[in-house]
Amino acid sequence: MEPKAQNPDPRSDFPILRREVKGKPLVYLDNAATTQKPQVVIDRVSGFLANENANIHRGVHYLSMEATDAYDRARAKVAGFLNAAEAREIVFTRGTTEAINLVARSFALPRMASGDEILISAMEHHANIVPWQMAAKECGALLRVAPLTDCGQIDLEAYGELLGERTRLVALTHVSNVLGTINPAKEMIAMAKELNIPVLLDGAQAVPHISVDVRELNCDFYTFSSHKLFGPDGVGILYGRAELLAAMPPYQGGGDMIEQVSFENTTFRAPPERFEAGTPNISGAIGLGAAIDYISALGRETIHAREEQLLNYATNRLGEVPGLSIRGTAPEKVAVISFTLESAHPHDIGTILDASGIAIRAGHHCAQPLMQHLGVPATARASFAFYNTTEEIDRLTEALLEVNRMFGT
Ligand code: ALA
Repeated sequence: MEPKAQNPDPRSDFPILRREVKGKPLVYLDNAATTQKPQVVIDRVSGFLANENANIHRGVHYLSMEATDAYDRARAKVAGFLNAAEAREIVFTRGTTEAINLVARSFALPRMASGDEILISAMEHHANIVPWQMAAKECGALLRVAPLTDCGQIDLEAYGELLGERTRLVALTHVSNVLGTINPAKEMIAMAKELNIPVLLDGAQAVPHISVDVRELNCDFYTFSSHKLFGPDGVGILYGRAELLAAMPPYQGGGDMIEQVSFENTTFRAPPERFEAGTPNISGAIGLGAAIDYISALGRETIHAREEQLLNYATNRLGEVPGLSIRGTAPEKVAVISFTLESAHPHDIGTILDASGIAIRAGHHCAQPLMQHLGVPATARASFAFYNTTEEIDRLTEALLEVNRMFGT
Protein backbone atom coordinates (compact mmCIF):
# COMPACT_ATOMS: atom_id res chain seq x y z
CA MET A 1 0.00 0.00 0.00
CA GLU A 2 1.38 3.39 -0.97
CA PRO A 3 1.67 5.91 1.87
CA LYS A 4 -1.15 8.44 1.77
CA ALA A 5 -0.46 12.12 1.22
CA GLN A 6 0.25 13.94 4.45
CA ASN A 7 -2.71 15.42 6.30
CA PRO A 8 -1.85 19.04 7.27
CA ASP A 9 -3.67 18.41 10.58
CA PRO A 10 -2.48 14.96 11.70
CA ARG A 11 -4.35 15.29 15.01
CA SER A 12 -7.60 14.84 13.10
CA ASP A 13 -6.35 11.38 12.02
CA PHE A 14 -6.84 10.13 15.61
CA PRO A 15 -10.54 9.65 16.39
CA ILE A 16 -10.04 9.11 20.14
CA LEU A 17 -8.64 12.63 20.48
CA ARG A 18 -12.12 14.00 19.72
CA ARG A 19 -13.70 12.39 22.76
CA GLU A 20 -14.48 13.91 26.13
CA VAL A 21 -13.48 12.53 29.51
CA LYS A 22 -15.36 13.65 32.62
CA GLY A 23 -17.17 16.29 30.58
CA LYS A 24 -13.96 17.87 29.27
CA PRO A 25 -12.06 17.42 26.01
CA LEU A 26 -9.52 14.62 26.52
CA VAL A 27 -5.91 15.76 27.00
CA TYR A 28 -3.90 12.61 26.36
CA LEU A 29 -0.37 12.94 27.76
CA ASP A 30 0.41 9.29 28.46
CA ASN A 31 2.02 8.48 25.13
CA ALA A 32 5.05 6.75 26.68
CA ALA A 33 2.64 4.14 28.11
CA THR A 34 0.84 3.72 24.81
CA THR A 35 0.15 5.91 21.80
CA GLN A 36 -3.23 6.48 20.17
CA LYS A 37 -4.08 4.96 16.80
CA PRO A 38 -4.74 6.81 13.53
CA GLN A 39 -7.83 5.89 11.50
CA VAL A 40 -5.67 4.23 8.81
CA VAL A 41 -4.37 1.70 11.35
CA ILE A 42 -7.86 1.05 12.74
CA ASP A 43 -9.17 0.59 9.19
CA ARG A 44 -6.34 -1.72 8.19
CA VAL A 45 -6.87 -4.02 11.19
CA SER A 46 -10.65 -4.08 10.87
CA GLY A 47 -10.38 -4.44 7.08
CA PHE A 48 -8.14 -7.48 7.52
CA LEU A 49 -10.51 -9.04 10.05
CA ALA A 50 -13.58 -8.25 7.95
CA ASN A 51 -12.31 -9.25 4.51
CA GLU A 52 -8.96 -11.03 4.57
CA ASN A 53 -8.78 -13.09 7.76
CA ALA A 54 -7.05 -16.47 7.47
CA ASN A 55 -4.14 -18.22 9.14
CA ILE A 56 -0.71 -17.79 7.58
CA HIS A 57 1.79 -20.32 6.20
CA ARG A 58 -0.78 -23.10 6.49
CA GLY A 59 -3.25 -22.98 3.66
CA VAL A 60 -3.15 -23.62 -0.04
CA HIS A 61 -6.32 -21.55 -0.30
CA TYR A 62 -6.54 -18.01 -1.57
CA LEU A 63 -7.23 -16.24 1.72
CA SER A 64 -4.36 -17.94 3.53
CA MET A 65 -1.94 -17.02 0.78
CA GLU A 66 -3.21 -13.44 0.78
CA ALA A 67 -2.85 -13.21 4.59
CA THR A 68 0.67 -14.70 4.37
CA ASP A 69 1.63 -12.10 1.76
CA ALA A 70 0.28 -9.26 3.91
CA TYR A 71 2.13 -10.57 6.99
CA ASP A 72 5.38 -10.89 5.01
CA ARG A 73 4.95 -7.37 3.62
CA ALA A 74 4.57 -6.07 7.19
CA ARG A 75 7.86 -7.74 8.09
CA ALA A 76 9.56 -6.09 5.09
CA LYS A 77 8.14 -2.71 6.17
CA VAL A 78 9.65 -3.12 9.65
CA ALA A 79 12.99 -4.06 8.08
CA GLY A 80 12.87 -0.92 5.92
CA PHE A 81 11.83 1.22 8.90
CA LEU A 82 14.94 0.11 10.85
CA ASN A 83 17.16 -0.13 7.76
CA ALA A 84 17.85 -3.79 8.53
CA ALA A 85 19.80 -5.57 5.78
CA GLU A 86 17.15 -8.27 5.30
CA ALA A 87 13.53 -8.93 6.27
CA ARG A 88 14.54 -12.26 7.86
CA GLU A 89 16.33 -10.26 10.55
CA ILE A 90 12.93 -9.18 11.90
CA VAL A 91 11.13 -11.54 14.30
CA PHE A 92 7.56 -10.71 15.28
CA THR A 93 7.07 -11.03 19.04
CA ARG A 94 4.38 -10.10 21.55
CA GLY A 95 6.26 -6.86 22.24
CA THR A 96 9.54 -5.50 23.56
CA THR A 97 9.33 -7.60 26.72
CA GLU A 98 9.05 -10.88 24.84
CA ALA A 99 11.82 -9.83 22.44
CA ILE A 100 14.22 -9.18 25.34
CA ASN A 101 13.27 -12.45 27.03
CA LEU A 102 13.94 -14.24 23.74
CA VAL A 103 17.47 -12.83 23.57
CA ALA A 104 18.06 -13.54 27.26
CA ARG A 105 17.07 -17.21 26.89
CA SER A 106 18.28 -18.07 23.38
CA PHE A 107 21.34 -15.85 23.04
CA ALA A 108 22.70 -14.82 26.44
CA LEU A 109 22.07 -17.86 28.62
CA PRO A 110 23.82 -20.42 26.38
CA ARG A 111 26.87 -18.13 26.23
CA MET A 112 27.20 -17.39 29.95
CA ALA A 113 29.00 -19.17 32.76
CA SER A 114 29.36 -18.43 36.44
CA GLY A 115 31.14 -15.10 36.99
CA ASP A 116 30.27 -13.69 33.55
CA GLU A 117 28.55 -10.31 33.40
CA ILE A 118 25.66 -8.56 31.70
CA LEU A 119 25.88 -4.78 31.68
CA ILE A 120 22.75 -2.61 31.83
CA SER A 121 22.20 0.95 33.07
CA ALA A 122 20.45 2.51 36.05
CA MET A 123 17.73 3.98 33.80
CA GLU A 124 16.35 0.66 32.50
CA HIS A 125 12.70 -0.26 32.85
CA HIS A 126 11.81 -3.64 34.29
CA ALA A 127 11.63 -5.34 30.87
CA ASN A 128 15.34 -4.65 30.41
CA ILE A 129 16.31 -5.68 33.95
CA VAL A 130 14.32 -8.72 35.03
CA PRO A 131 15.00 -11.05 32.05
CA TRP A 132 18.77 -10.51 32.49
CA GLN A 133 18.54 -10.95 36.24
CA MET A 134 16.65 -14.23 35.78
CA ALA A 135 19.18 -15.52 33.21
CA ALA A 136 22.12 -14.39 35.37
CA LYS A 137 20.75 -16.14 38.47
CA GLU A 138 20.31 -19.34 36.52
CA CYS A 139 23.99 -19.59 35.58
CA GLY A 140 25.73 -17.66 38.35
CA ALA A 141 26.41 -14.61 36.17
CA LEU A 142 26.32 -11.03 37.50
CA LEU A 143 24.23 -8.04 36.54
CA ARG A 144 26.35 -4.88 36.41
CA VAL A 145 24.73 -1.45 36.31
CA ALA A 146 26.18 1.70 34.73
CA PRO A 147 25.37 4.71 36.94
CA LEU A 148 23.77 8.02 35.89
CA THR A 149 24.85 11.62 36.09
CA ASP A 150 22.75 14.23 37.89
CA CYS A 151 20.92 15.36 34.76
CA GLY A 152 19.96 11.79 33.88
CA GLN A 153 22.56 10.63 31.38
CA ILE A 154 24.54 7.41 31.57
CA ASP A 155 27.97 8.14 33.05
CA LEU A 156 30.07 7.19 30.03
CA GLU A 157 33.33 6.97 31.93
CA ALA A 158 31.83 4.56 34.45
CA TYR A 159 30.18 2.64 31.60
CA GLY A 160 33.57 2.25 29.88
CA GLU A 161 35.12 0.98 33.11
CA LEU A 162 32.37 -1.60 33.55
CA LEU A 163 32.98 -3.10 30.09
CA GLY A 164 35.41 -5.96 30.57
CA GLU A 165 36.47 -9.39 29.49
CA ARG A 166 33.68 -11.02 31.51
CA THR A 167 30.97 -8.85 29.87
CA ARG A 168 28.90 -11.15 27.67
CA LEU A 169 26.25 -8.63 26.61
CA VAL A 170 25.34 -4.96 26.98
CA ALA A 171 21.57 -4.24 27.14
CA LEU A 172 20.59 -0.56 27.07
CA THR A 173 17.54 1.50 26.55
CA HIS A 174 17.89 3.79 23.53
CA VAL A 175 15.60 6.39 25.17
CA SER A 176 14.54 6.46 28.84
CA ASN A 177 10.80 6.11 29.45
CA VAL A 178 11.10 8.21 32.63
CA LEU A 179 13.81 10.80 31.97
CA GLY A 180 13.35 11.13 28.21
CA THR A 181 17.14 10.96 27.79
CA ILE A 182 18.36 9.88 24.33
CA ASN A 183 21.42 7.78 25.03
CA PRO A 184 24.48 8.18 22.77
CA ALA A 185 23.86 4.66 21.52
CA LYS A 186 26.27 4.72 18.58
CA GLU A 187 29.16 5.78 20.79
CA MET A 188 28.25 3.30 23.54
CA ILE A 189 27.98 0.46 21.03
CA ALA A 190 31.35 1.37 19.53
CA MET A 191 32.88 1.21 23.03
CA ALA A 192 31.43 -2.29 23.54
CA LYS A 193 32.50 -3.43 20.07
CA GLU A 194 36.14 -2.61 20.82
CA LEU A 195 35.92 -5.58 23.19
CA ASN A 196 33.70 -7.64 20.83
CA ILE A 197 30.77 -7.40 23.23
CA PRO A 198 27.33 -7.76 21.62
CA VAL A 199 24.76 -5.04 22.30
CA LEU A 200 20.97 -5.08 22.54
CA LEU A 201 19.14 -1.76 22.34
CA ASP A 202 15.63 -1.47 23.73
CA GLY A 203 13.99 0.96 21.35
CA ALA A 204 10.46 0.95 22.79
CA GLN A 205 10.66 4.64 23.68
CA ALA A 206 12.91 5.64 20.80
CA VAL A 207 11.04 4.65 17.63
CA PRO A 208 8.03 6.93 18.22
CA HIS A 209 10.36 9.95 18.41
CA ILE A 210 13.61 9.46 16.49
CA SER A 211 14.83 7.68 13.32
CA VAL A 212 16.62 4.43 13.94
CA ASP A 213 19.13 2.81 11.60
CA VAL A 214 20.31 -0.47 13.06
CA ARG A 215 23.19 -0.74 10.61
CA GLU A 216 24.47 2.74 11.36
CA LEU A 217 24.12 2.09 15.10
CA ASN A 218 25.91 -1.24 14.60
CA CYS A 219 23.79 -2.92 17.28
CA ASP A 220 23.27 -6.69 17.34
CA PHE A 221 19.68 -6.67 18.58
CA TYR A 222 16.99 -3.99 18.59
CA THR A 223 13.48 -4.24 20.02
CA PHE A 224 10.29 -2.20 19.97
CA SER A 225 6.54 -2.52 20.59
CA SER A 226 3.91 -1.65 18.00
CA HIS A 227 1.51 -0.08 20.49
CA LYS A 228 3.99 2.68 21.34
CA LEU A 229 4.36 3.40 17.60
CA PHE A 230 0.70 4.19 16.86
CA GLY A 231 0.05 0.53 15.97
CA PRO A 232 -1.96 -2.26 17.61
CA ASP A 233 -0.99 -3.82 20.93
CA GLY A 234 0.15 -7.41 21.48
CA VAL A 235 2.81 -7.27 18.78
CA GLY A 236 6.36 -6.02 18.59
CA ILE A 237 9.63 -6.95 16.99
CA LEU A 238 13.10 -8.22 17.60
CA TYR A 239 15.73 -7.22 15.08
CA GLY A 240 18.74 -9.52 15.22
CA ARG A 241 21.77 -9.76 12.98
CA ALA A 242 21.15 -12.67 10.60
CA GLU A 243 24.24 -14.62 11.65
CA LEU A 244 23.39 -14.31 15.34
CA LEU A 245 19.74 -15.36 14.90
CA ALA A 246 20.88 -18.30 12.75
CA ALA A 247 23.08 -19.59 15.58
CA MET A 248 20.39 -19.29 18.27
CA PRO A 249 18.17 -22.17 19.46
CA PRO A 250 14.38 -21.72 19.45
CA TYR A 251 12.75 -19.76 22.27
CA GLN A 252 9.39 -21.55 22.27
CA GLY A 253 8.32 -24.76 20.58
CA GLY A 254 5.14 -25.32 18.59
CA GLY A 255 3.63 -25.10 15.15
CA ASP A 256 5.15 -23.10 12.31
CA MET A 257 8.67 -23.06 13.77
CA ILE A 258 9.43 -26.64 12.74
CA GLU A 259 10.76 -28.40 9.63
CA GLN A 260 10.05 -31.98 10.65
CA VAL A 261 8.55 -33.46 13.81
CA SER A 262 8.58 -37.03 15.07
CA PHE A 263 8.15 -38.29 18.62
CA GLU A 264 11.90 -38.85 18.74
CA ASN A 265 13.14 -35.57 17.32
CA THR A 266 12.25 -32.22 15.78
CA THR A 267 14.18 -30.07 13.36
CA PHE A 268 13.59 -26.35 13.24
CA ARG A 269 13.06 -23.77 10.53
CA ALA A 270 15.51 -20.97 9.87
CA PRO A 271 14.90 -17.54 11.45
CA PRO A 272 12.64 -15.66 11.67
CA GLU A 273 10.06 -18.50 11.66
CA ARG A 274 12.17 -20.48 14.17
CA PHE A 275 11.24 -17.85 16.76
CA GLU A 276 7.55 -17.49 15.87
CA ALA A 277 5.95 -20.61 17.35
CA GLY A 278 2.17 -20.87 16.98
CA THR A 279 -0.22 -18.57 15.19
CA PRO A 280 1.17 -15.04 15.56
CA ASN A 281 -0.75 -11.79 15.95
CA ILE A 282 -1.40 -11.55 12.20
CA SER A 283 -3.77 -8.57 12.22
CA GLY A 284 -1.46 -6.82 14.72
CA ALA A 285 1.60 -7.24 12.50
CA ILE A 286 -0.35 -5.96 9.48
CA GLY A 287 -1.62 -3.03 11.58
CA LEU A 288 1.97 -2.26 12.56
CA GLY A 289 2.82 -2.16 8.86
CA ALA A 290 0.05 0.42 8.39
CA ALA A 291 1.40 2.47 11.32
CA ILE A 292 4.85 2.47 9.71
CA ASP A 293 3.31 3.66 6.41
CA TYR A 294 1.55 6.41 8.35
CA ILE A 295 4.71 7.59 10.15
CA SER A 296 6.68 7.49 6.90
CA ALA A 297 4.08 9.61 5.11
CA LEU A 298 4.00 12.11 7.97
CA GLY A 299 7.80 12.34 7.92
CA ARG A 300 10.39 12.24 10.67
CA GLU A 301 11.21 15.93 10.26
CA THR A 302 7.60 16.92 10.87
CA ILE A 303 7.42 14.72 13.96
CA HIS A 304 10.73 15.94 15.31
CA ALA A 305 9.98 19.64 14.78
CA ARG A 306 6.55 19.33 16.38
CA GLU A 307 7.81 17.39 19.40
CA GLU A 308 10.72 19.73 19.97
CA GLN A 309 8.30 22.65 20.02
CA LEU A 310 6.06 20.80 22.50
CA LEU A 311 9.00 19.84 24.73
CA ASN A 312 10.32 23.42 24.89
CA TYR A 313 6.89 24.89 25.47
CA ALA A 314 6.03 22.35 28.20
CA THR A 315 9.41 22.73 29.93
CA ASN A 316 8.89 26.51 30.08
CA ARG A 317 5.25 26.36 31.19
CA LEU A 318 5.87 23.72 33.87
CA GLY A 319 8.72 25.90 35.13
CA GLU A 320 6.03 28.43 36.13
CA VAL A 321 4.49 25.99 38.63
CA PRO A 322 5.89 26.62 42.14
CA GLY A 323 7.51 23.59 43.75
CA LEU A 324 7.69 21.59 40.50
CA SER A 325 10.97 19.73 39.78
CA ILE A 326 11.62 18.13 36.41
CA ARG A 327 13.43 14.80 36.75
CA GLY A 328 15.63 14.33 33.71
CA THR A 329 17.22 17.35 32.07
CA ALA A 330 19.67 15.81 29.63
CA PRO A 331 20.42 18.08 26.66
CA GLU A 332 19.39 15.29 24.26
CA LYS A 333 15.91 14.22 25.24
CA VAL A 334 12.54 13.37 23.71
CA ALA A 335 9.22 14.96 24.67
CA VAL A 336 8.81 13.12 27.97
CA ILE A 337 8.71 15.11 31.22
CA SER A 338 8.77 13.40 34.60
CA PHE A 339 8.22 15.69 37.54
CA THR A 340 7.44 15.92 41.22
CA LEU A 341 5.54 18.63 43.09
CA GLU A 342 6.42 19.66 46.63
CA SER A 343 2.73 20.00 47.46
CA ALA A 344 1.35 16.60 46.41
CA HIS A 345 2.19 12.95 45.83
CA PRO A 346 2.30 11.93 42.14
CA HIS A 347 -0.75 9.69 42.58
CA ASP A 348 -2.76 12.66 43.94
CA ILE A 349 -1.56 14.76 41.01
CA GLY A 350 -2.65 12.06 38.55
CA THR A 351 -6.07 11.71 40.17
CA ILE A 352 -6.75 15.44 40.27
CA LEU A 353 -5.64 15.90 36.66
CA ASP A 354 -7.87 13.01 35.63
CA ALA A 355 -10.88 14.90 37.01
CA SER A 356 -10.06 17.56 34.38
CA GLY A 357 -9.84 15.01 31.58
CA ILE A 358 -6.02 15.07 31.56
CA ALA A 359 -4.32 11.67 31.30
CA ILE A 360 -0.77 11.43 32.63
CA ARG A 361 1.03 8.52 34.27
CA ALA A 362 1.93 8.58 37.95
CA GLY A 363 3.98 5.92 39.70
CA HIS A 364 7.29 4.14 39.26
CA HIS A 365 6.86 3.76 35.47
CA CYS A 366 8.07 0.14 35.60
CA ALA A 367 11.48 1.49 36.66
CA GLN A 368 11.67 1.02 40.44
CA PRO A 369 15.51 1.03 40.61
CA LEU A 370 15.53 4.38 38.78
CA MET A 371 13.09 5.79 41.36
CA GLN A 372 15.53 4.68 44.07
CA HIS A 373 18.33 6.47 42.21
CA LEU A 374 16.19 9.64 42.01
CA GLY A 375 15.35 9.29 45.71
CA VAL A 376 11.59 9.42 45.14
CA PRO A 377 8.91 6.75 45.46
CA ALA A 378 7.25 7.88 42.24
CA THR A 379 6.99 10.70 39.72
CA ALA A 380 4.24 12.17 37.59
CA ARG A 381 4.96 11.94 33.86
CA ALA A 382 3.58 13.87 30.91
CA SER A 383 4.65 12.24 27.66
CA PHE A 384 3.87 13.82 24.31
CA ALA A 385 3.29 12.82 20.72
CA PHE A 386 3.19 14.97 17.60
CA TYR A 387 -0.62 15.22 17.88
CA ASN A 388 -0.52 17.08 21.19
CA THR A 389 -0.96 20.85 21.27
CA THR A 390 0.31 23.84 23.22
CA GLU A 391 -3.30 24.42 24.38
CA GLU A 392 -3.18 21.01 26.05
CA ILE A 393 0.05 22.01 27.80
CA ASP A 394 -1.71 25.18 29.00
CA ARG A 395 -4.48 23.00 30.45
CA LEU A 396 -1.89 20.80 32.15
CA THR A 397 -0.19 23.84 33.66
CA GLU A 398 -3.48 25.31 34.91
CA ALA A 399 -4.43 21.97 36.46
CA LEU A 400 -1.06 21.74 38.26
CA LEU A 401 -1.51 25.25 39.63
CA GLU A 402 -4.91 24.08 40.86
CA VAL A 403 -3.24 21.07 42.58
CA ASN A 404 -0.99 23.53 44.40
CA ARG A 405 -4.02 25.61 45.44
CA MET A 406 -5.85 22.53 46.71
CA PHE A 407 -2.85 21.41 48.74
CA GLY A 408 -2.31 24.89 50.09
CA THR A 409 0.86 25.97 48.27
N1 ALA B 1 6.95 1.20 29.82
C1 ALA B 1 5.67 1.84 29.68
C2 ALA B 1 5.65 3.19 30.36
O1 ALA B 1 6.68 3.78 30.52
C3 ALA B 1 4.57 0.98 30.11
O2 ALA B 1 4.60 3.68 30.72
